[in-house]
Amino acid sequence: MKPREICKGVRWMGALDWNRRLFDSLIPLPDGTSYNAYLIEGSEKTALIDTVDPPMAEVLTRQLADVKKIDYIISQHAEQDHSGTIPLIMEKYSQSILLCTPKARDLLVDHLGIPAGRIRTVEDGETLLLGDKTLQFIHTPWVHWPETMVTNLPEDRILFTCDFFGSHIAMSDLYAGDDPYIIEAAKRYYAEIMMPFRTMIQKNLKKISEIEFDFIAPSHGPVYDHPEDIISAYEDWASDKVSNLAVIPYISMHGSTETMVNYLVSALAERGITVQKFELSTTDIGKLAMALVDAATIVIGTPTVHVGPHPSVFSATHLANALRPKLKFAAIIGSYGWGTKAVEQISALIPNLKVEVLGTVMCKGLPKDETFAALDALADTIRDKHSSI
Ligand code: FEO
Repeated sequence: MKPREICKGVRWMGALDWNRRLFDSLIPLPDGTSYNAYLIEGSEKTALIDTVDPPMAEVLTRQLADVKKIDYIISQHAEQDHSGTIPLIMEKYSQSILLCTPKARDLLVDHLGIPAGRIRTVEDGETLLLGDKTLQFIHTPWVHWPETMVTNLPEDRILFTCDFFGSHIAMSDLYAGDDPYIIEAAKRYYAEIMMPFRTMIQKNLKKISEIEFDFIAPSHGPVYDHPEDIISAYEDWASDKVSNLAVIPYISMHGSTETMVNYLVSALAERGITVQKFELSTTDIGKLAMALVDAATIVIGTPTVHVGPHPSVFSATHLANALRPKLKFAAIIGSYGWGTKAVEQISALIPNLKVEVLGTVMCKGLPKDETFAALDALADTIRDKHSSI
């Protein structure tokens, strides 16, 4: 893709990674992703905001072929999908200076081997004059590492935000427009990348609400030309509000846990609760993460393997704990052959979830009448708890 002009002196550059299907060897990318960089050419100085993932470096260097001079490289986030090509760009533009937050400085030295002497740190609110354009740096920690910042270009009313508001999606359109699928992709991104830092996101949303802009230009996904849509979505996702939704990640080996889960799904639906169930040997974990953005309750379903939970349940529970969703309630259901410590082991995996545990239903072998009665009682409890929030 060739560079594209957002307005006079501001060009999108970067790479569309249509075929990438996994990020961090963990996160599914059903729509690929993009690594956006932005070239800002003022009347006196030129700045490049962020770069691209190193495997795509050649795309960016080709786009810069006719750019004779870059004075400043702005690193808004030290993670390599944005910073990884900075050394190459600094080599090409040997007079350039790298600007970043004080916390980013060490990370860029450690991760990329950039000489500290070529880095200049910027304070929160500091401005940089490029002639007829000004860049203002606003520290916004934890979107998504502790060192992150966003960059305001007031003359053109553009806010550059790197991971903040990003979406893993490769698309030929430069702008998001009002396509609801972009918000869906951004929700997946939020769930997988941002959700653990929800309280910091609330603070950062408040901080940027003091800035006037017409465009949000993230470093993944399209540019938002209706930024109010994504800001409103973020306000909702990061709020303390939960939905009347129960999420059931589970796996089954010989069918008992599956029978219990299906019974509970029906029992909850009869009581007016929306349910999303995720069979963990086949599910897209991004979908599970998205469901956890809004859910009030998680019910973990597991058979017993060597006394503990099934390893797939162990892994999904560990992930849910790391993502720190705003869940209010939890329960554990499942089955065992001759003995189990699955409940104790799962309970030990979720210290980050500030949930009230509503109960456990574990059955030996096939589910029986008393198992279904216990699941009905659990469904009653979940209904009552949901109606109280
Ligand atoms: Fe897109 Fe946290 O890097």
